[in-house]
Amino acid sequence: SLPKQVKIVEVGPRDGLQNEKENVPAEVKTELVNRLTSAGFQNIEAAAFVSPKWVPQMATSADVMAAITRKPGVIYSALTPNMQGFEAALAARADEVVIFGSASEAFSQKNINCSIAESIARFEGVARAAKEKGIRLRGSISCAFGCPYQGEVPLDAVADVVARMRDLGCDEIDIADTIGVATPRKTQAVMERAIGQFRVDGLSGHFHDTYGQALANIYASLELGISIYHSSVAGLGGCPYAKGATGNIATEDVLYLMQGLGIETGIDLDIVVDAGQYISQFLGRKSASRAGNAIAAK
Ligand code: HMG
Ligand code: MG
Repeated sequence: SLPKQVKIVEVGPRDGLQNEKENVPAEVKTELVNRLTSAGFQNIEAAAFVSPKWVPQMATSADVMAAITRKPGVIYSALTPNMQGFEAALAARADEVVIFGSASEAFSQKNINCSIAESIARFEGVARAAKEKGIRLRGSISCAFGCPYQGEVPLDAVADVVARMRDLGCDEIDIADTIGVATPRKTQAVMERAIGQFRVDGLSGHFHDTYGQALANIYASLELGISIYHSSVAGLGGCPYAKGATGNIATEDVLYLMQGLGIETGIDLDIVVDAGQYISQFLGRKSASRAGNAIAAK
């Protein structure tokens, strides 16, 4: 049987917007996060403390974290590739820091400029500091289903990085389809290996929808008991280091699926639809969420 309830982590303000060419002002990001907070998310990925030369759109992360209206109990997460990022996240009062590695050597080099082994060594300091400060620690594993640079990613490589993230003390580990190439049986094969290394209730599915497979992959993951999913309002997104990859699966579409399956999320779909229309209007394009557009047209 499928889980009775799931946690949806809204990643639009970070993963969704990081690749936008036009600067999205901190005020707009703040308004988006505030709307998402009022929709009832327990966890919103709001910032990335990364090099502004690498990802210019995230340069306003500290301003956004300072300006948002925080709801008690909601986890506002920030990406932290190294100690410099961690210090910034600490100053910005992030509730959770995210170390992000990859199951693909080639992608690790392109995205964070080091090998997988070097990244784990770099994360050790961040992990230790997070524990000392009592901040939640999440590990994200890119290209767990395929890589834009090396193609196939071995199942053993995914299992190995999951084990390393576990040993670093991660509270949660994301299995990410960065370029959206997975299909359901493949999804289950990868997730089974992840479950072999970490608590099933601490694993999350982070699916991009490049090939239109993300909802099917979420369903396949639900069948294995995975109960945390990442999604992006209006289907925003695309990774700067994964050419051609489109956004995360749209949050509205995931919520519609969960409602239909009778799975609790605690999130108000109508408020999310409004938030999706708000940010899409700002960006000057139609929302990528099928459910969002259908509901908005009613
Ligand atoms: P590097 O060049 O090897 O770092 O980059 P470095 O330590 O040699 O430092 C070089 C310069 O960067 C220095 O500045 C540092 O101060 C600065 P300079 O002296 O030249 O003026 N710097 C920083 N500035 C701000 N914040 C920091 C920071 N660290 C160094 N934390 C680094 C290594 C990791 C920093 C770089 O490669 C980087 O920032 N990469 C960002 C990659 C990124 O954000 N990618 C997108 C997010 S991952 C993703 O989207 C996937 C995910 O969604 C899951 C999925 O779908 O797969 C999570
Ligand atoms: Mg992503």
